[in-house]
Amino acid sequence: MIFDDLIDAAKKARGQAYAPYSKFAVGAALLTKSGRVITGCNVENLSFGLTICAERAAVFTAIALGEKDFAAIAVVADSLTPVTPCGACRQVLAEFAEDLPICSANLQDLRFTSTLRELLPRAKEGILGA
Ligand code: THU
Repeated sequence: MIFDDLIDAAKKARGQAYAPYSKFAVGAALLTKSGRVITGCNVENLSFGLTICAERAAVFTAIALGEKDFAAIAVVADSLTPVTPCGACRQVLAEFAEDLPICSANLQDLRFTSTLRELLPRAKEGILGA
């Protein structure tokens, strides 16, 4: 399965999550078109709204590393149903990817595979006259 390595990387990143408030650790791994795997984890804050999700953490790290062409993303959490990126993360992903395969997995390796376009259709329509 093409997502196996990416899920493993996301699982590892999940181990670094800072989630003392929700206790819900999430890891994400982005595969770049250049073949790099760049990970992120959620980082929470006492001022809850400042929390950043694992997916956006991965995107922002990728940008800082000079990578903005993405081939796929995996997300891992300990949930009954595999977790898909939240609305904010979908929009941030849409900034850099027209469409993107997304694989969400839980710790039992139940997987849900989707695409960014499915999860966030018409992401940029009408904005700035587009
Ligand atoms: N979270 C993520 O990191 N990614 C998701 O896709 C869903 C939610 C984080 C944010 C917060 O730290 C915790 O999970 C509970 O919402």
